[in-house]
Amino acid sequence: MKKKVLITRKLLRSNEDRANELWDAKLNLNDEVYSQQKLIELSQGCDGILSSLTEKIDEKVIKSLPSTIKVISNFAVGFGNIDIEAAKKKNIVVTNTPDVLTDATAEIAMLLILGACRRAAEGISYVKKENWKWSADFLIGKQLNGSRLGILGMGRIGQALAKLAKVFGMEIHYRNRSKLSKEKEMGAKYHENLQSLFSVSDVLAICCPATNETKNIINKETLEYFPTGAIITNVARGDMIDDDALVQALVNRKIYAIGLDVYKGEPKIHNGYLNQPNAFILPHLGSATKKTRTDMADLAINNLNEVLNTGKCTNRVN
Ligand code: GLV
Repeated sequence: MKKKVLITRKLLRSNEDRANELWDAKLNLNDEVYSQQKLIELSQGCDGILSSLTEKIDEKVIKSLPSTIKVISNFAVGFGNIDIEAAKKKNIVVTNTPDVLTDATAEIAMLLILGACRRAAEGISYVKKENWKWSADFLIGKQLNGSRLGILGMGRIGQALAKLAKVFGMEIHYRNRSKLSKEKEMGAKYHENLQSLFSVSDVLAICCPATNETKNIINKETLEYFPTGAIITNVARGDMIDDDALVQALVNRKIYAIGLDVYKGEPKIHNGYLNQPNAFILPHLGSATKKTRTDMADLAINNLNEVLNTGKCTNRVN
């Protein structure tokens, strides 16, 4: 008999077809964002859940899941939406989708850097209002070539971004839990602490995972470490930023511009960002290319299948 799997959000057609071949799949054809209660109800009788970052699967939810659930396969590299320890206690394997989204996310990180440095949001707004004219000092921005890029979190995405940014002539600095090998560093300079990294970051790219340690790592105090007129970008998770402090820093021009793809409590977004002309903001598009989303869902399907068939998985995170 086919295994029963709950797929919490709509996937691309080819991925859903594959899921249907493999399993008795409960699809979400209307792509509704399920409440915690609905997720618990729909998971009754299922062997696994293919979840997305839009579901908060906390301890309470995990405890209420039926005992038939063996695996939660997250359709994302980040898994901060799932209480992986609570899952472990209940013998539920949690998996993620690393690697396949590295290049797409690094490209969005580059777009945020370019958009924030070159005032793209303001430019687009002028063009749409048809009220601009060229002049020598119109929308003067900051040049990437020759400026210093600080990368917070030099994992796969941070390293891919470093490669791209070097092509733009940026000097790369980074902070990571551990120093990389010379080969992986490719000339980037390691910093022992945040203050040291931030103080040389003309542009900062946040690429680290959301953990208790990185929560609100950008705050009133750490913003003071940056050179005046620095640019802050984030492709990781909104949890890393104290939004009130960053908006204030934008208002008082300590920070020149920001580029954000992720937000605390998204899809809600701090009102302060909406009112700032120097905020280049995107709706969590990091992995949003057809190839990447297809590969991610394929990997999430493989992960889930592997756990159901073998009890193991290389992409297990708990
Ligand atoms: C996207 O944000 C992911 O974690 O995959």
